[in-house]
Amino acid sequence: MASPVEQATQRDDVDEIELALLLEGIYRRYGFDFREYAPASLRRRVWRRVHAEGLETVSALQAKLLHDPACMERLLLDLSINVTAMFRDPTFYVRFREKVVPLLRTYPFTRIWVAGCSTGEEVYSLAILLLEEGVYDRTRLYATDINESVLDRARSGVFPLDKMREYTQNYIKAGGERAFSEYYLAKYDGAQFQRSLVDNVVFAQHNLVSDRSFNEFQLIVCRNVMIYFDRALQDRVHELFYESLVRFGVLALGHKESIRFSPYADRYEELDAVERIYKKRR
Ligand SMILES: C[S@@+](CC[C@H](N)C(=O)[O-])C[C@H]1O[C@@H](n2cnc3c(N)ncnc32)[C@H](O)[C@@H]1O
Repeated sequence: MASPVEQATQRDDVDEIELALLLEGIYRRYGFDFREYAPASLRRRVWRRVHAEGLETVSALQAKLLHDPACMERLLLDLSINVTAMFRDPTFYVRFREKVVPLLRTYPFTRIWVAGCSTGEEVYSLAILLLEEGVYDRTRLYATDINESVLDRARSGVFPLDKMREYTQNYIKAGGERAFSEYYLAKYDGAQFQRSLVDNVVFAQHNLVSDRSFNEFQLIVCRNVMIYFDRALQDRVHELFYESLVRFGVLALGHKESIRFSPYADRYEELDAVERIYKKRR
């Protein structure tokens, strides 16, 4: 008979096999590729969905998912960690005004890709900043995410009213000088942002793991997305970004992300080390 330690080890092995099969099944049935996502947080989220569906094993979730697209939608929401905020990391926006906007001014027209835009707070923040800097009119923003339901929320431009105090603080710390409330109307418990802020924004579903580039950009903003990817996947996405940027184009990553360990490190120069803003050399 197996000792308790052996039993536990066998259970871990089974868990791992079940998780790998689940991810393979999702990929083959729906085309979403989570096979190279960082395993610890993935496992936690999958188990949360197992329990939320009233199931007991990852295999049972797999069976349900393969036959029930609505269940896949729910897992997708669990897996695509959507935490975001307006003017998140305000110092990023301060440096952006100082170091990126002058470069944008050198172009007659700029295309910006905001990849992994979640529910849109980042896009509205960028739109406000570009508007205040007088460059919004000659900019088109392409805001993409893997998850269609967060994009719907982004399109609506309604954010929780009780967040406005925090966002106003962020906006001021980010160098904003107007009254933040100019940009929205309070409606019940929501803040409806001005529709004109998204006049130059195209929202579209795009999967960084499996979809190709769709244009050439002067700037790519992809913050707090690759943190959930393993190294191999990060490298692939860096390749996609490198190929999608014009010469001297700018790449902006999240605070905990870096180009440093990717094969593309020497193809960029650092515009701001702390804020993880890079400029393509060639
Ligand atoms: C934590 S949010 C970051 C939102 C925003 N960029 C920010 O910094 O506040 C990560 C977003 O990446 C999206 N995402 C995850 N995997 C993706 C993929 N393979 N392709 C495109 N978007 C993805 C998620 O759906 C989620 O909305």
